Amino acid sequence: MARLPVLFFVTAFLISACNNSNGNRPSGNQQAAQAATNELPGQAVYQKNCKICHGSKGDLGLSGAANLRKSTLTPDEKIGVITFGRNGMAPHKDILTAEEIDQVAAYIETLHDE
Ligand code: HEC
Repeated sequence: MARLPVLFFVTAFLISACNNSNGNRPSGNQQAAQAATNELPGQAVYQKNCKICHGSKGDLGLSGAANLRKSTLTPDEKIGVITFGRNGMAPHKDILTAEEIDQVAAYIETLHDE
């Protein structure tokens, strides 16, 4: 039992040493987005590109924007609308990367009611 505190300090030191290394961090925008929100990376994408019409909760409905809280589309169908557009919804394939579209689609799932 007497060795336990020593082990604790050694472990704590090793953990803090790992945290201080820069080796494993996400880079660029992703890092900034995660640092800014500490949420899903798609949240930053949403706030920058979608909130203006859909609103921060998904139900603003500006210029006929569909209510994302009540959407009956599957996640794949949403990715299709985001990528290729539909009526008043512009295509985003030239604005966002495929990864960002996946992230923002995952984020809008969290806005959905129930
Ligand atoms: C210029 C305004 C505008 C912006 C910006 C916009 N949307 Fe839309 N969105 C619309 C409109 C309008 C519709 C309804 C299209 C229709 O009637 O077919 C829509 C529909 C959708 C749908 C289909 C929902 C359903 O249930 O039918 C999804 C999903 C969606 N938008 C996600 C997004 C995401 C994610 C972004 C950001 C990457 C975004 N939209 C940005 C206007 C916008």
